[in-house]
This record gives sequence, C-alpha cells and structure tokens, in this order.
Amino acid sequence: MARDDKTLGAYYTPEAVADALVRWAVRDAADSLLDPSSGDGRFVARHPNSVGVERDPASAADSRGRAPEATIVEGDFFTWAAADRRRFDCAAGNPPFIRYQRFAGATRRAALDYCRRLGVVFSGLSSSWAPFIVAAASKVRPGGRMAFVVPAEIGHAPYAGPLMEYLVGNFGCVHLIAIKDKIFPKLSEDCWLLLADRAGSRSGTIRLSRVERFDPRAMPPPASEEISVEAWRVRWRRRLRPFLLPPRVRSLYERMAAEADAARLGQIAQVGIGYVSGANAFFHLRPSDVRRFAIPDEFLVPSIRNSRYLTGAVVDDADVERWVAKDEPVFLLRIPPGARVPGAVRAYLDTAEGQQARASYKCRNRTPWYTVPDVRRPAFVLTYMSGRSPALAVNRGRCTCTNAFLAVDFRSDLFGNGGISERRLSAAWGSPAGRLSCELEGHPLGGGMLKLEPGEARHVLLVPDDAVTERDRVLLEEGIEVMQQWRHLA
Ligand SMILES: C[S@@+](CC[C@H](N)C(=O)[O-])C[C@H]1O[C@@H](n2cnc3c(N)ncnc32)[C@H](O)[C@@H]1O
Repeated sequence: MARDDKTLGAYYTPEAVADALVRWAVRDAADSLLDPSSGDGRFVARHPNSVGVERDPASAADSRGRAPEATIVEGDFFTWAAADRRRFDCAAGNPPFIRYQRFAGATRRAALDYCRRLGVVFSGLSSSWAPFIVAAASKVRPGGRMAFVVPAEIGHAPYAGPLMEYLVGNFGCVHLIAIKDKIFPKLSEDCWLLLADRAGSRSGTIRLSRVERFDPRAMPPPASEEISVEAWRVRWRRRLRPFLLPPRVRSLYERMAAEADAARLGQIAQVGIGYVSGANAFFHLRPSDVRRFAIPDEFLVPSIRNSRYLTGAVVDDADVERWVAKDEPVFLLRIPPGARVPGAVRAYLDTAEGQQARASYKCRNRTPWYTVPDVRRPAFVLTYMSGRSPALAVNRGRCTCTNAFLAVDFRSDLFGNGGISERRLSAAWGSPAGRLSCELEGHPLGGGMLKLEPGEARHVLLVPDDAVTERDRVLLEEGIEVMQQWRHLA
C-alpha cells in the first residue's frame, strides 16, 4: 500500500478483481493496454503489452518491479495524456478516489482542462476518479474497450452525470456492475465495476447488472436490465441509483410520481440548510449564562442543535422547557444586522470567549462578526443524515436550527385536493412512498447512513398518503428494504 492513502487515493485492487478486469478488457495477446494509475502494477503485470502511468515514484518503482515487460511512466496521468498521442486497444485499472478538497492544484487543473477539451465539464466539486475515467476513455482507439473499478457514487454523484454522458456518447456499450458486498473491506465507500466497449460509437441504453458479490468469472455478469439513456437522463436526472430497485417497484413509483396530486418537496416548500454560528460554544448560551449576563429575550432564539434534541415528530414549548430545565446551551445569541446592541449584550461580546470567537474564520469573514446569518424559525426541521429514515419534525416551539438540519418552510398550499397542512406533509413524508423516495433521492454515506443534500431533499416525492392502496404499500416497503440493504443498514 502506498504511503499516503488519502492524497494519492491509493487503495489497491484485490487480485481477483484486477484479474477479471484485465481479462474482460484484453481480447487478444497483441492488444495494447493502458492503466492510467498503475499503483504497484497489478493490472499491467497481467498483460505484457501494457503502459502504466503512476505519479508516486515508489509505486512506479513497484510497478516496474512487478511488470518488467510493461512500460511504466512516472508522472501525472493528465500531463502525460495531453502530450502522448497514442491510442490503446483497451484500458483497465482502478483510478484514485481523491475528494475535491484534496484533489487540488496543478493536477486538478490539468485534469479538468484535459476533460474540457473533450467537451466534458466537471465542477470543482468533482472527485478525481471521474476525470481519470474520461481521460482514459479518450485514449482508447475506435472499437476498443475498457474495464475499471469505480466508486458506487457513479450512481448518484452530480459529477457522474458528465462522465456517463461522455461514455454513452463515445462507446457502443456501457455496462455497470453494481456489487452489493464490499470489494474493498477497508473502504467505507462501495465500489462498482464499469465496462465500456466499442469505442467510437454511441449507446442508446446503459446496461446494469445488480449482483450480491463479486464473482471472478471469465465473462461479465448478464445485464439485469437495459436502461434507456433518455429515461436515465430525463426521468431520473442522470442518477443510476434508483435502478437498484426491482423494476416492478420502480414502475409503481414512477406511476405515483406522475399522478396529479403528487408533488416534490421543493414544489411546496423551501428547503435550506440551518445556520453556522462559527463559534458554537460562544453563540449558544445556557439559561444560567443568560441570567448571569442579563441578556434580553429579544436577542435569544431557542435552537435545535443536533438530532439528540429531537425526541419525536414534533418540537414544542415543552421540549424547550425541558432543555431549559437541564440548563442546556440552547439559546442562540441572535443580534440582527443594524440592531442597537445593549450594554448587557456588549459586555458578553467583550468577554474573553467573545474575543476568541471573533477571531474564528466565519466571524472574521462577516460583518458584523456577531450577527449569525441564516437564522430562520422554519415550520419543520429535517435531519439530513440518518440511519433508518430522515425525520421531518414539526417545529411548534418556534425554534431555529443549526446546520445539523435542513430548514423546511411552506411555499405553496397546493398539495392534492386538500391543500397543504402540517399533518398532511408529515403523513406524506413518513409514508412508504415518502420513505422510499428519500432512499432514491438521497445517497449512502457509508456505515449504513443515508444523506439528503438540500437539492436531493427538494426532489423527495410526496404523495397524499390516503391515496395509496394496501397492495402498493407492500411493494413500496419492499423497495425501501432493498435500498436499505444496498446502503448496508444493519
Ligand atoms: C486506487 S490506486 C490504484 C492502484 C492500482 N491500479 C490498483 O488498483 O491496485 C490509485 C493510484 O493512482 C496514483 N495516482 C494518484 N494521482 C495520480 C495522477 N495524477 N497520475 C497518475 N497516478 C496517480 C496513486 O499513486 C495510486 O497508486
């Protein structure tokens, strides 16, 4: 294993997987093979007519030692790709998974520029593996093919969209093998396999195999289904994850989504992230601090700080009273912009803790430093990282919420025939259709957790719960269970 796993994205592929991918990619002993990130050389060692590129000098030396017949280029793959005009019969490997925070500087620039020249625009939030696949694909000759390990986020990450568009636009067959069991037991991320064949053609469908575990066969597993590119692109907003569902459940879900009384959360509500104070210990006061500094009520808002504060489907005055009785740091110091700051509040701002808080990154970058932005008292708070299912709690206590939650407020009263109400939204959210939709629109975080980004939450489908038949309910529950198994909920 290389020395700096996270920076280099170096997690070596199990031998059986490397073996299968090379066997699937290479058709003829004379084929030329490219591995864009050869690591210790376990792909190129399996085929003599290979070129491996590897940035880490020690790993490049390992590649040479392991694959003496291959050509190993030490350096950045994108710089090499921009300079070398060769095309290969096939490509195979396991690209580095380096998240955008670390995938920075000259390498990222070279990667994104190279892809832009091919017409593929990745945002700055892209992880390294997606440009690696595009750039490797661009090196495959017409009629050639490739076989790669990819993170399962190819099924939901926004940057998987431009990658998949490039593949279906440049290969006659694009095949993803979704594998439920982990290929890399040490990685929290699941991995799938990507095969693309007949470079130089286009695909009207994406082939998907859903399998329980990796099976090192001579041939790739048969397709579980052929997904129309048009349906993937338009109906499913370029996400493959929903295709993990059994087709009968997915058809039911699509039928429900097309009903006149169905709505997406974003159509009836505004969804935003809760506030970031920048210095939690300073901005959250205990009732005893409030008394000691005599802070006036109008500068305090009770805050739901984390999911431990939620005990049920409603947060009300009784909850706030309970937090107060325990002297929890529950009051956010909220000084509206332009407000006259009374002496008592000024004294608190000038404490040693206040001096320390104003030096924090967030406080230094806002004016005035003591005004926490985005403080809302939303109608609902939504936990966006959850085990079983994201909870939407009614906020009757008129609390605000931190960025441990999404803040949800009504924007329209159109929802089915009866109009919208707290009760109807809560019922639709917690219904089997709502819970299945969270599974489909959200994404796994590792460790069995499900995350709903604000954009994903806005797409959650809400169906008036009284409209769902018992038979459909059973199917929807089956779909939830399937999706929870894919994200390893214990
Ligand atoms: C996930 S490992 C894969 C190694 C090997 N192919 C395997 O599967 O066992 C990724 C490799 O990419 C290399 N790497 C990272 N960034 C690179 C870059 N810009 N150019 C070339 N190689 C790079 C890392 O050093 C690491 O060895």
